[in-house]
Amino acid sequence: MTLMEKEIFEVPEALKTCFKTNEKLLDELTEKLQSTKIRNVIVAARGTSDHAGMYGKYIIESFVGIPVSLAAMSVVTRYGGSLDLSDSLVLAISQSGKAADVIEYAEMAKKSGAIVVTITNDNTSPLALVGDYNFFLNVGEEKSVAATKTFSSQIYTIAYIVAKWAGRKDLLAKLDKVPEKICQILLRNEEIAVIASRYRFMKEAFILSRGMNYPLALEGALKIQETNYVLAKGYPISDFHHGPFAMVDEGMAVIMYMPAGPVANDSMEMIKKLQSVGADILMVTDDEDLIAEGDVGFLLPFADKEDMISAFYYATFAQLFACNLAEVKGRNPDAPRGLNKVTITK
Ligand code: AGP
Repeated sequence: MTLMEKEIFEVPEALKTCFKTNEKLLDELTEKLQSTKIRNVIVAARGTSDHAGMYGKYIIESFVGIPVSLAAMSVVTRYGGSLDLSDSLVLAISQSGKAADVIEYAEMAKKSGAIVVTITNDNTSPLALVGDYNFFLNVGEEKSVAATKTFSSQIYTIAYIVAKWAGRKDLLAKLDKVPEKICQILLRNEEIAVIASRYRFMKEAFILSRGMNYPLALEGALKIQETNYVLAKGYPISDFHHGPFAMVDEGMAVIMYMPAGPVANDSMEMIKKLQSVGADILMVTDDEDLIAEGDVGFLLPFADKEDMISAFYYATFAQLFACNLAEVKGRNPDAPRGLNKVTITK
């Protein structure tokens, strides 16, 4: 068994541990956020952690109504910029806690008066020490270069912060059930292995989604890129209409993360267009009505049309798909060529 596979199978327990570790801190942060006038949220992160932050953007804007932007870190690290971040919350995410640009950005934000929330899997890392509130994932060291259990627990942490901040008890109840539903997907790993083997000769692929699951399409693409050396590219359906669609040839692999929530109609429109040009569609959905639209499909657990929740199931599928694809291609997903576990950029 590869480390990547082992770590994906640790996800349900990791989520539970992560929640327990941060339960008290979550209440403290909720009190602070609900009693402070926050006008902006800025996310600072790289790679997989950045995708977790983008998921945060969608759910903070949807449920809390505060605009969220993604930090241009070179403004601070290369151009010497210093921003006025008073009345802001900065969400700095790095599983290793060693991302140099994220650390520098968080330090600048703190000096500028922002509330700095950090999310790391190393409680003693430099980033953890900068946070006014540090959420320690506590999921055990992640050894595979491909981040899996840390990503799932990052988005779990962010989802809890948002559900609490927004005072949404319904979402909190749904989040409690996520680990158990992820187990249901893990039990179907063989099914995903069969699907992955169908794609063993794939050289390029698009991964499409929309809304809260768009960051999951980006993460799905990154997992395929780094573990399989396939030119995979994630797009939001809405942008895919505006040009990239022209690249789709007959038989080209398009992996569709089509959630059953408010974006379902947009999905249907894109599916019809892709079918008309003969794309090879892998339909991953929690919508029973959509599953038959693909050349091959994988039905995710019922997420009650709540895209914030289905994101966890897309994450698990994406991780298992990339891992199984690597296995069938004879690649080692734990140590991709040219990559280290911790990548430091400035
Ligand atoms: C994840 O699969 C990647 N290997 C990589 O993008 C990673 O997420 C990125 O380097 C960020 O790392 P960090 O979370 O430790 O800052």
